[in-house]
Amino acid sequence: MALQHNVDLRPYNTFGISVHADRSGTFHNVEELRGLLADPEVQNSPLLVLGGGSNILFTQDFRGTALSNGIPGIDVVKEDSDHVWVKAGAGVVWHEFVLFCVEQGWGGIENLSLIPGKVGAAPMQNIGAYGVEIKDTFHALEALRIDNGEVVSFTKDQCAFGYRESYFKREGKGRYIILSVTFRLTERPVLNTSYGNIQQELERMGITAPTLRDVSNAVIAIRRSKLPDPAVIGNAGSFFKNPVVPEDVLNSIRKSDPDVVAYPAGPGHFKLAAGWLIERAGLKGYRQGQQGVHDRQALVLVNHGGATGKAIYDLSEHVLKTVKARFGVELEREVNIL
Ligand code: EPU
Repeated sequence: MALQHNVDLRPYNTFGISVHADRSGTFHNVEELRGLLADPEVQNSPLLVLGGGSNILFTQDFRGTALSNGIPGIDVVKEDSDHVWVKAGAGVVWHEFVLFCVEQGWGGIENLSLIPGKVGAAPMQNIGAYGVEIKDTFHALEALRIDNGEVVSFTKDQCAFGYRESYFKREGKGRYIILSVTFRLTERPVLNTSYGNIQQELERMGITAPTLRDVSNAVIAIRRSKLPDPAVIGNAGSFFKNPVVPEDVLNSIRKSDPDVVAYPAGPGHFKLAAGWLIERAGLKGYRQGQQGVHDRQALVLVNHGGATGKAIYDLSEHVLKTVKARFGVELEREVNIL
């Protein structure tokens, strides 16, 4: 694939921010990727690999090469009476992969329906929703080492998954390009409908004995009702992480706000719902020019059309400061800022 120059990255990020990259190209297999990386222009400039661009905020032009991962393919690599090991190319659209597995009757990722992005980006931040994270079904991944072009495998332990975290966001950052991910899914699905309002949604749909597809449809319905569709209104899902705080911090918030939403998170610690904190701080639906806080899920910042990345970043600063002033809690951004 030839490189293109001075490329508008707007179609490549779900915030819909218009910035330019000096160069960009798409690869569909490891040979094409090696070819692109061997180009002297690419070797001498910063590199950015875009999955679906669904967890990134561009605040300026990118003075380097933006590569788009287009590696296709979904293959069964192993099967026994209980499980199936399915390998997906990093460029496969995540939701299409989920739907394919649901159709086959393979369980384990149905709660992760409709998450934007591509398969290769999923392990980077251990995507999660409705009580499930990809680490629960992750088996292994293959990645290309940027420094020597070798293809290496990573086990689950080596990926060091945490809450919206992995090795690839820390020590491994900028050193690997994910090529494929293998999941171990179950042929005898055990549905996980206890989290959030999946059960309620199933009841609303009139379903008493749900199938994998029913759970997937319920998750899709819940997400559509709360989260803005990036095709309609630019956003990158949750902009902040849910903060984990010591019990005394939770207790002091409870004094003024007894209805604070908190979940146990290890000995003496609680995870607070950041969306609740932002809403209680008065910012749900808050708007500054073309950027704002979503009016149905305060954890999501949105581009109402024509916002700059810098303006959205400034809005996130305002949210951080307001929450800190109101509750003494420091939020952390989940989205990558560039
Ligand atoms: N809440 C509010 N106001 C809001 C938003 C939420 O009071 O504006 C309350 C809700 O009523 C609920 C609690 O906060 O009691 C949690 O809300 P929700 O179930 O919507 O989930 P979340 O914790 O806000 C997380 C993930 C989402 C994921 C959902 C569902 C993070 C950072 N976000 O959000 O992930 O879809 O749970 O599992 O962990 C993403 O990462 O981009 C993302 C959308």
